[in-house]
Amino acid sequence: MQNLNVGLIGGGFMGKAHSLAYAAMPMFFWPAPAMPVRKTIAEATDQLAAEAARRFGFEQSTSDWRSVVEDPEIDVVDIATPNHLHAEIAIAAAKAGKHIISEKPLARTSQEAKAMYEAVKEAGVVHAVAFNYRRTPAVALAKKYIEEGAIGRILNFRGTYLQDWSADPNSPLSWRFQKSIAGSGALGDIATHVIDMARYLVGDFSQVNSILSTWIPERPLQAGGADALGTVRGSDGPRGDVDVDDEVMTMIRFSNGAVGSIEATRNAYGRNNFITFEIHGSEGSIVFNYERRDELQVCFASDQGDRRGFRTIYTGPVHPYGAALWPIPALGIGYGETKIIEAHDFFTAIAEGGTVSPNFADGYQIALIDDAIVQSAESDAWVDVQPAEL
Ligand SMILES: NC(=O)c1ccc[n+]([C@@H]2O[C@H](COP(=O)([O-])OP(=O)(O)OC[C@H]3O[C@@H](n4cnc5c(N)ncnc54)[C@H](O)[C@@H]3O)[C@@H](O)[C@H]2O)c1
Repeated sequence: MQNLNVGLIGGGFMGKAHSLAYAAMPMFFWPAPAMPVRKTIAEATDQLAAEAARRFGFEQSTSDWRSVVEDPEIDVVDIATPNHLHAEIAIAAAKAGKHIISEKPLARTSQEAKAMYEAVKEAGVVHAVAFNYRRTPAVALAKKYIEEGAIGRILNFRGTYLQDWSADPNSPLSWRFQKSIAGSGALGDIATHVIDMARYLVGDFSQVNSILSTWIPERPLQAGGADALGTVRGSDGPRGDVDVDDEVMTMIRFSNGAVGSIEATRNAYGRNNFITFEIHGSEGSIVFNYERRDELQVCFASDQGDRRGFRTIYTGPVHPYGAALWPIPALGIGYGETKIIEAHDFFTAIAEGGTVSPNFADGYQIALIDDAIVQSAESDAWVDVQPAEL
């Protein structure tokens, strides 16, 4: 079993999640596809980097991400920075021959995503985008049922991602509200996860018709420091403009004839990580809610009429990824497990010389869907999704 040296860029929320996954992956998946070695972590300053190395168990630290990408000892570059750095780091890492996992959204724009895709394709390295929610065992179980035909032909996909961490108008103008850094708001930040699940479970998008709304057009300027996703308390200091969306709603026509809708907002008081989907098929329905992520609700048309209704399946050892996780259903799958599974699938592709989904090609196609969503919101009309020929 080979060791693979990881260079992690960014030691914030995702730096924590990915470090945990590298430490824990072999504890769950044994024998592991390869042993992740937490070699070097890069942060914005030397002090932040040294602190992150100590906390997250890395051997070395630096404030210069280029030195990580150029280090011949590094096998894997993990991009966990704000979105504006994804393209530059990924293209440099691909040129240096590193395998790459990038956080989502792949990039700020479809042009950046295309350049990233072309760079990894040219380099022949393994590439992945961290849409980890599709790796929740209950979501993978929904995929299995759909592939087995258990709910027949899919008619409708209704997805949401609702949060409330930005509902307070006095919460700060973090990088997530700045187009130059984030690229977009709720669209790229959270709707992309549901778009990824819709593509995974239903298929390609052909048309969208969308509304984008910005409810809070100004927010207090941040004094400095890292974004903390709503844990930074409000301020009544000078304000700056929000130039991204707070909320996106889109209707969808899928290439296979199914229809659907996705809603995403970070301003829904009372909602926390409300990622849901309800899928209706010609032979049954499936319902998932990430806030109850051990559970999948199913109803099959073949159920006897006088007892037909949703029933709840608790994922466990007999379900996707379950043998590697916990021995009893409903012990509790968490966010950490989705990242551990993601690390397992990525390292498996590297060890076996294969590919993994979702990858930069998927990230690029999702960026093109995002373009169509923006165009349809601007034109108030249905817009064709223009998928790339890859
Ligand atoms: N998959 C998911 O569920 C999920 C969840 C949250 C965030 N994300 C994505 O992960 C990425 C990071 O988000 P986050 O929530 O961790 O943000 P964050 O603000 O918590 O962390 C980003 C870190 O990057 C560091 N950084 C900034 N410039 C740097 C540089 N030049 N070199 C090295 N480090 C630098 C910052 O100091 C900060 O610690 C984003 O692309 C975001 O969209 C994904």
